[in-house]
Amino acid sequence: MPRPRIEVDPTVGLPLPAMRLEHTRRAWGMLPRLTHPRILDLGCGDGVPTVELARLSGGTVVGLDIDGSALERLMDRAAAAGLGDRITTLEGSVADLPFPDGSFDVVWGEGIAHVVGFERALAGWGRVLVPDGFMVLHVATWLRPDPPEGARRTWGSFSEDVSTLEGYADRAAAMGCEVIGSFDLPESAWWDLYYGPLGDRIASLLGSQPDDTDVRGELEAKRQEVEHFRRYRDWLGSGFIAMRRP
Ligand SMILES: C[S@@+](CC[C@H](N)C(=O)[O-])C[C@H]1O[C@@H](n2cnc3c(N)ncnc32)[C@H](O)[C@@H]1O
Repeated sequence: MPRPRIEVDPTVGLPLPAMRLEHTRRAWGMLPRLTHPRILDLGCGDGVPTVELARLSGGTVVGLDIDGSALERLMDRAAAAGLGDRITTLEGSVADLPFPDGSFDVVWGEGIAHVVGFERALAGWGRVLVPDGFMVLHVATWLRPDPPEGARRTWGSFSEDVSTLEGYADRAAAMGCEVIGSFDLPESAWWDLYYGPLGDRIASLLGSQPDDTDVRGELEAKRQEVEHFRRYRDWLGSGFIAMRRP
């Protein structure tokens, strides 16, 4: 009789969401004080930043994502936080925003700008902002210029869109946006709290499940991902950039 498949997700329970919220809060702090802002969170996923934005801002947040099941989890999260009345969701694509011009005071996007490309994000998403509204993006960064080919491979076809933080600032300025703040996440954010513990977990799981080839394959792929990030850790980062729409 075949053995039942063992589902192993070595990332479950790592403190990534909590770690990331610290930086979402710092990014929110780059904006001037806003009264009950209308916020659009693009590619909101299951809403870890979305709910925090509602809490921090005292305003309303629309979370848009292409993944309907993630939006359901978002609303469960919002309800659990007592913020369900200030958060709504919309299933759709960031490539085609169904909102009139000037609908929001803030557009927020964590881990999503590469889907359309930085310049297209600024232009297309900026349209739904009020004049002088703000856009805050959490983007993949090169921690230093001239990344080697191996580091570039990390982001596949999106690699051409990745810059250093200074590079993004220049690109935003070229689009007429005023950069009001930016920061790279510290290396410790990814290594101490995520990739380091993940690597340890994978090593121990690989040690304890030698027979199941499917599980081994998945773990081995994850192990290689961790190793890749370890090798190119001097280049691979992520950062926030906050801009004011022209
Ligand atoms: C890296 S996750 C980030 C989720 C969330 N912003 C966070 O920081 O926890 C990227 C999200 O973008 C969504 N996504 C990818 N392509 C999209 C598209 N074309 N339109 C809308 N959402 C998209 C995915 O479903 C996923 O939830």
